[in-house]
Amino acid sequence: MSTPEHITLIGFSGTGKTEVAKRLAALLGWEAIDSDDLIEQRSGGRTPAEVIAEEGEFRFRAIEAVILSELASRQRLVVACGGGAPVNETSRRSMVEAGLAVWLDAHFEETEARDGNDSKGRERPLRSPRIFDQRAALYRTTADYTVLTDTLTPEDVAKVILAWYRLVGEGAYNRPGRIEQLLRVPSVMPAALDTPHATAIIRTASGDYPAYVDWGGLERLGEYVKRATGARRAFVISDDNVLGIWGETALSSLREAGIDAASLALEPGDGSKSIENAGRAYDWLASLRAERRDAIVALGGGMVDDFAGFIAGTYMRGMPVVQAPTSLLAMVDASIGGKTAINHVGVKNIVGLFYQPRAVVADVATLKTLPRRALVEGLGEVIKHALIRDPELLELLEVRLDDLLALEPELTTQVIARNVQIKGEVVSEDERETGGVREILNYGHTLGHAFEAAGGYESLLHGEAVAAGMMAAAEIGRRVGVTPPELVERQRKLIERAGLPLRPPPGLDRERILAALSLDKKVVAGGQRWVLLEGVGRPVVRADVPSSVVEAVLDDLLSP
Ligand SMILES: NC(=O)c1ccc[n+]([C@@H]2O[C@H](COP(=O)([O-])OP(=O)(O)OC[C@H]3O[C@@H](n4cnc5c(N)ncnc54)[C@H](O)[C@@H]3O)[C@@H](O)[C@H]2O)c1
Ligand SMILES: [Zn+2]
Repeated sequence: MSTPEHITLIGFSGTGKTEVAKRLAALLGWEAIDSDDLIEQRSGGRTPAEVIAEEGEFRFRAIEAVILSELASRQRLVVACGGGAPVNETSRRSMVEAGLAVWLDAHFEETEARDGNDSKGRERPLRSPRIFDQRAALYRTTADYTVLTDTLTPEDVAKVILAWYRLVGEGAYNRPGRIEQLLRVPSVMPAALDTPHATAIIRTASGDYPAYVDWGGLERLGEYVKRATGARRAFVISDDNVLGIWGETALSSLREAGIDAASLALEPGDGSKSIENAGRAYDWLASLRAERRDAIVALGGGMVDDFAGFIAGTYMRGMPVVQAPTSLLAMVDASIGGKTAINHVGVKNIVGLFYQPRAVVADVATLKTLPRRALVEGLGEVIKHALIRDPELLELLEVRLDDLLALEPELTTQVIARNVQIKGEVVSEDERETGGVREILNYGHTLGHAFEAAGGYESLLHGEAVAAGMMAAAEIGRRVGVTPPELVERQRKLIERAGLPLRPPPGLDRERILAALSLDKKVVAGGQRWVLLEGVGRPVVRADVPSSVVEAVLDDLLSP
């Protein structure tokens, strides 16, 4: 058996891959190649960062994969590859099949200190300790050999690799089971970074994750869960309705992917988001000896999403969770963004945490069995997204609302995909609602939440309350001179056609609404903050709306 004369250097940027490749190649009498150089050559002189910015990361990774597979056929070569290259499965396979892979490891702080621009003056991508750790797990799995470079010069590193290669390179390359071992998906695989079929990538401090929106996607749930979590066991949390209809599809897909799956069904309804049920879910997980490397799958509407996300975030201080939303509201809203909660002491979502899923798998076909009222409810958030962010989507809704309500597959998939992207973008910019932009998602929610609370969460569904809340916000906006009257009218027509309420139901108590307003989590000290529309896609936040205007609008909405 022989050893290929081919070595690939992997590792974070700032670990000196390019320099080490040159020196190692010189010692071996081979050639050194920096894959980023080839990308630049093939992309009209643009740097990797520019290609990513202009064409997206997926396209970039695909170009990189082609280059690495071409290089794989060459001998007497040391390849320095881009930091994210092993995230792509094809690239990973090319490098480990072509020859040996060596990880230039370094502590995060070291790479920070050495960083700035790379040796060719190219800008390096942003990084965070969290991404660093995810990537480190990937490099560790992929590498035949690791050099901790912290205190070594590039020349030292090259010599260490040379000594290892001469001494044990052959044995390392020819050991049985090597390829399978190196291509294993580590449990903290940075899934989102290479998911060509993803509809959106949600970027958060705790990692990036993909959202897949497609018709029939539940049949691929197992693959997605495996890819995103590496888990061998999945604990599916659902409710009786959804598990009864879609459980079999989900569970058999998991099992086909080699994942052991068990399920727990809650009683349908928001009352199930309780401390008591959380206790039961923990008991269930404990009785089945769930471990941190297993996965939780949330299969259901927003109730299940919130509940299962909460359980996943708290059990064993956090287990991976994959959201598989089955209601329109859950697909376009609850499953994206990592807000999880249960209800307590009569207050909705009062106990919870931000906990991001590893992936979101929205099978649009599941909406076929969703009760009509729940479907219409979800449209409330869809219309909201269009109003705050996307004039084109608003027009599409106006033209094709009936086809959407009839769940025409292509259109419905397109509309939900766009909504997931919108919510994903906003959440990525402001994960914890601290930087401001996530606040625009609260359009219609300030009074919407108050209507829900005043009705004891019984008379109105969330999306219905939001629809009425949006009408209130539009009217407030009009009265303070922010919202053009034509926009108020356009919004009214669409909400009405969708079958959503334009005002709270009769009999809602004015004082309870006002009391609920001051309990609203969105209240910021110094005045109620209102998201108002200057135009479609142009939300503004105003803290100077006189309470007399709010009360007057409320009185109009409540008067018969
Ligand atoms: N985390 C967030 O960011 C966020 C955002 C919005 C709403 N929420 C939460 O979402 C919940 C409301 O979500 P929801 O409206 O989806 O309620 P839900 O989960 O209670 O679902 C509504 C009903 O539809 C049924 N159902 C769901 N999918 C079905 C399907 N495909 N076929 C047949 N029946 C189906 C459910 O069993 C239930 O009876 C609330 O708890 C709310 O607090 C959370
Ligand atoms: Zn909402």
